[in-house]
Amino acid sequence: MSAQSGLAASLSAKELQLVPPQAARLSSISLPGSRGIRPPLKWAGGKRWLVSHVAALYDQHRNKRLIEPFCGALAVTLGVLPDKAILNDVNSHPINFYNRLKRGLKVSIDMVNDEEFYYRHRQEFNNLILANREDSKEAAELFYYLNRTGYNGLCRFNKRGLFNVPFGKYKNISYRYDFSDYASVFKDWYFVNGDFELLDVTSKDFLYADPPYDVEFRQYAQQGFDWQDQVRLADWLAIHRGPVVVSNQATERIIELYKKRRFTIAILDAPRMISCTGDRAKAKEILAYRNI
Ligand SMILES: C[S@@+](CC[C@H](N)C(=O)[O-])C[C@H]1O[C@@H](n2cnc3c(N)ncnc32)[C@H](O)[C@@H]1O
Repeated sequence: MSAQSGLAASLSAKELQLVPPQAARLSSISLPGSRGIRPPLKWAGGKRWLVSHVAALYDQHRNKRLIEPFCGALAVTLGVLPDKAILNDVNSHPINFYNRLKRGLKVSIDMVNDEEFYYRHRQEFNNLILANREDSKEAAELFYYLNRTGYNGLCRFNKRGLFNVPFGKYKNISYRYDFSDYASVFKDWYFVNGDFELLDVTSKDFLYADPPYDVEFRQYAQQGFDWQDQVRLADWLAIHRGPVVVSNQATERIIELYKKRRFTIAILDAPRMISCTGDRAKAKEILAYRNI
């Protein structure tokens, strides 16, 4: 396997510098222990644990705009807190929600951790999708409620594009109604909905890409992102003339993909476990970077 870099080991001092002063003032949304701002959504594959690693690379480029083509729950951007950012995802619902947060969203629907109530709100959300009103304030509020109350914070749709995540059965949920503190954090961040390749980036931008994981031994592609998309992404990142960082599951073919394109490779232990020939082992994550 590829060289283990000294990256992870050298991070703790830098970690302490993560939070610009404005974050400390936003106490209602800042995370304990100086680790940036609390992501308002739950997300499969969220990368909070990678924040210190990406921050160590971004800190040398703080004057640059941060581009996240696969922003998901914003865990990394909210940890790194750039002044300027372009945050993209192919999923329109979190993007609508963030655009509403930028405008100081205050949730006006009731939010209750109850099964019947959940399925009623899920139906209302799907009615908005069917009526092409998925970019409305109401859709953003319902999306937040479903994200907190549904099973594991999953965001899954059926073939008709309707949200089909079951009730989450959590004991307690604390809902936030007032998101106005996020407006100042998001002021110079722009949210875009589309495929990563449509993004308009310049050589002055710092790119951090966290695509859906490569799943080597399964037939289906996770979230519709197959091997050809992984190759398309690696090619797109390799022609970027500015600094670029990408994370992914450290499968053999992903390591090869980025090695061939002259990326520096670091292999990290992810906090999740995988089952490996009957044993439980820590999953390996790749952090590949260039032009840093
Ligand atoms: C691993 S998640 C990103 C998680 C994020 N880094 C975080 O910490 O919350 C991958 C994201 O890529 C998005 N995605 C999938 N295919 C995409 C595409 N072709 N272009 C842009 N985004 C895509 C998914 O909707 C998902 O939110």
